[in-house]
Order: sequence, then C-alpha cells, then structure tokens
Amino acid sequence: MTALTLSTAAAPGLRVDALVIGVAKGSGSKGAGLVVAPGAEAVDHAYDGKLAGVLETLGASGSEGEVTKLPAPSGFKAPLVVAVGLGALPEDEEAGFDGEALRKAAGIAARALAGSKKAAFALPLADAADLGAIAEGVLLGAYSFDAYKDTAGERKNGKAPLAEAALLGAKPRDKAHKAALERATAVSEELNRARDLINTPPNDLNPESFAAIATAAAKEHGIKVQVLDEKALAKGGYGGILGVGAGSAAGPRLVKLTYTHSRNARHLALVGKGITYDSGGISLKPAGHNETMKCDMSGAAAVFAAVVAAARLGLEVNVTGWLALAENMPSGSATRPGDVLRMFSGKTVEVLNTDAEGRLVLADALWAASQEKPDAIVDVATLTGAMVLALGNRTFGVMANDDAFRAAVVEAAEEVGEASWPMPLPEHLRKGMDSPTADIANMGERMGGGLVAGLFLREFVGEGITWAHLDIAGPAFNEGGPFGYTPKGGTGSAVRTLVRLAELTAAGDLG
Ligand code: BES
Ligand code: MN
Ligand code: ZN
Repeated sequence: MTALTLSTAAAPGLRVDALVIGVAKGSGSKGAGLVVAPGAEAVDHAYDGKLAGVLETLGASGSEGEVTKLPAPSGFKAPLVVAVGLGALPEDEEAGFDGEALRKAAGIAARALAGSKKAAFALPLADAADLGAIAEGVLLGAYSFDAYKDTAGERKNGKAPLAEAALLGAKPRDKAHKAALERATAVSEELNRARDLINTPPNDLNPESFAAIATAAAKEHGIKVQVLDEKALAKGGYGGILGVGAGSAAGPRLVKLTYTHSRNARHLALVGKGITYDSGGISLKPAGHNETMKCDMSGAAAVFAAVVAAARLGLEVNVTGWLALAENMPSGSATRPGDVLRMFSGKTVEVLNTDAEGRLVLADALWAASQEKPDAIVDVATLTGAMVLALGNRTFGVMANDDAFRAAVVEAAEEVGEASWPMPLPEHLRKGMDSPTADIANMGERMGGGLVAGLFLREFVGEGITWAHLDIAGPAFNEGGPFGYTPKGGTGSAVRTLVRLAELTAAGDLG
C-alpha cells in the first residue's frame, strides 16, 4: 500500500514526481469560474497569480472528477502539477471543503498517479478530519488487485500503484493529526484487505480458507477467534448454515471474532453474509447472473475488516464479528426447493428457492449473536437483487426494528462518506412467507423483495435486541470503471460505516 507521511515542507523544494493541488468551481458573488483551493498558494504565486486562468485555458472547470496535468512552474523541483476537481466551492467557506469531496479528489489523484513513485498532496486541509479524509482517499484510491496477473511484479501492461505520498499542510507532531493518520491507515488497510478477499476467485476463497485467513489476522491483533466447522455446526444445530453449504465440496463455517476492551461493557455485534460463491444452488442462477457471485461474501469481509480495525485502533468497546460462511452449489447433496431446515433458533424454514440462501445463513448467525444479548446487532449482506433495483449500484439500504437506530446508522454512514437510505419493514409483507409445512418460508412476495428478506431476518433476532440490516448488494461490487476512490471489483462497502458504529458505541452515543 502507498506509504503516507505528514509534511510541513514548502512545495517548491520537494523532490517528488508530482504535486497534487485542488481546484473548485466558483459560484455566486465570486463568479462562476475556476477557483484555486487553499494549499496551492505557492504554485499560484509562481504562476504570477494566474493559475486559475492557466487551468481554464487547459479546459479545467473545477468540477468533481476532473484531472488536469500541467508542467510545474520554474523554481519547483517537481516536474508536474496535477490539479484535481473538488466540485462546487463550499457555501460556508469557514467550514471548508466537505470531507467526502476531499476523499474523492485524493483518490482520483492517487489513481491518476499510478506508475509514479512519490507525490506530494497540497489539497485544502483545514483540520484533522480533512487530513483523515485525504489520507483515506489516497490509500483507497491507489488500490489495485493484481495477485493473479502474470505481470504483477513488473506490470508490463498495468502501472504500479503510487508508492509514496506526502501530505502537505499536516502537522507531524500534532496529536489530532497523528491520530487521524493512524485511524485512516488502519481503516483503509483493513478495507483494502476486504477488497482483496472479495476479488479473490472462489476456487481459492472458500469457507475453510476464509476462516483460516480470519484466524491468522485475529491472532495477530489480539482478537479471540472460534471457528465452527461442519461437525460442530451439526452438533450445535445450525440448520441454516448447514443447509446452504450442503451442496458444496467445501464445507461451511461459522467464525466468531471477539474483540474486548476491559474499560467498556458496551457490546456491538456485527454479522456478515459470507457466501464465497452463490451459484443459486438447485434453483440455479442463469448465465449472466453468476459471473460476479464471488462478491457474495462482501458482508462477511466488511465485518472482518471492521473488527480488526476496531482492535488496531484500541476502541473502548466490545465488538463481536460473526462470519456466516458457506458456498451455495448444486449437487446430489444440495438442499432442494421443498426441503425444510430446522434452524439454530429452533424455527423451521421451508426452502422454496435455494437462491434465497443469504437469509438462511444469516438467520443462524443472528440467533447465535443474540444469545450474548449485545446492545445492538448490525448485519451486512449482499442480500437481494431487489435492493439493487430499488437503490442502484452505489447506495445500500438500511432496515431496522427500531426507527431511531435506523436513523443513527444512516447518519453514521453519511459521516464517513457512504451512501445509504432508510427502508421500511412493512408488516403486510410477512404473510407472503407463510408456509403450509414449516414456521416460515424463505421466500415471499416478489415485489419489495429486499424488504421481505429484511422481515425474514427480523424473526431471528433475539427478543428486545436492537437490530439493523444493511443490504449492500448494489454497492459491494463495482462492475463499471473506477470512480472517486472506488476501484473496479470489490469496493469494501460498509466497512467505514461499521467502524463508525463501533466508535459511536464506544462513546455511548449508540444502542
Ligand atoms: N446474492 C444474491 C443477491 C445479489 C444479487 C447480490 C445481485 C449481488 C448482486 C442473493 O443470494 C439472491 O440470489 N437473492 C435472490 C432472492 C430471491 C430468490 C428471493 C434475488 O435477489 O433474486
Ligand atoms: Mn442467492
Ligand atoms: Zn447470495
């Protein structure tokens, strides 16, 4: 990953491959032209105060996503200036730029500088929060997955990620600045690790190998880890996880990660859907719907990343992470449509569609998490195509059994720059899951399928426990080109929201 340093150095003397500056779109009384953002004063000065005009001549407008390269002015040791668009100038100039605008701009610049060794970032940096956002943008934007490329070492075709970045305007000895860098580094490193897991092909990442990776990382960071294999799951009566894993040659696992901090009794439980490949099972997905289904463990990857990040940051809270791992495959031993499973909670489920498998593994993990009576449970899952239809590819849906908690989760996501939207759990959709044979069926009405799935999960949350469900089926995997600090492939959706929820729980502001 890109190595970050905080620097108070003056821009002209820096021996770097490029100097990154910010430009914004002016509005109102300031005119509608391009405005050079704070941080770029030295460059503007060397251009005789005409940098805005120079950039406009080159076609720049300051809009978000825009990258303009120009030669550095004389007197600068760096050969290149990269001007990155921050979008509209903030209305309240005192408040400075929006953190997410800085995060995106830093990510776009880092990606544009792939192949370079060292860059200096002179983006507007008003406080420690801005510094954290810029650091995250660089670390997340520079990400690339090439473990399976022949040319990974030399990258004959691709360019190596930016190796080093100095963040100018930061104070290397300032406590708040140091803490912001440390937080951004831990969160981004773990988020990138989640991306690696999501991108790893399903012939290499199965429940067993995922559990082994989680075990090794947990031990490294002082997290307690327990892995239930097929035998232990059978003994414990985890019919949901076993039923989904029954068709695969790679058996299912339930991984429990426990991070404890002695100074706080508050307990947040996180539950992740970890289907390492979703073929649909006997209700097989048609071709065209299964090529990206290695991403169906994105919820478990996010939970894993968040627990490790919480441990690395020493958050004063207890966090347990439950990874419900299985591979959904068709075979002679697979669960059939029509089978009835006896779940860990004791309820029976008639499986009408084996492609609605996520709710089955989550049901067992939610019930297991409930046994410890945590203050709150948050589950994360690539659960339904219906949620993608409803909210698109960049927004996750949030459902909950408590309206205030749902609002708090949406707000936490907003704070860290993740797009989410509150969704209802309409009671009338419950009867669509009535089964003539079992307590409940794993499918209901097609319309509102994402909400139906949420209602199913709600039945497996222990009485009186506050719970929220994040359906990340849309944003978990980016099939299009990279944008902002988001690469193609696994995105690490929900990791930052989960870390924020752990921080809020530590502060007593949640659950
Ligand atoms: N893993 C899928 C949901 C999904 C779809 C994730 C698209 C990411 C992108 C899930 O297991 C699934 O197949 N859901 C079905 C449920 C239906 C059979 C009730 C769906 O959404 O079609
Ligand atoms: Mn499925
Ligand atoms: Zn699935």
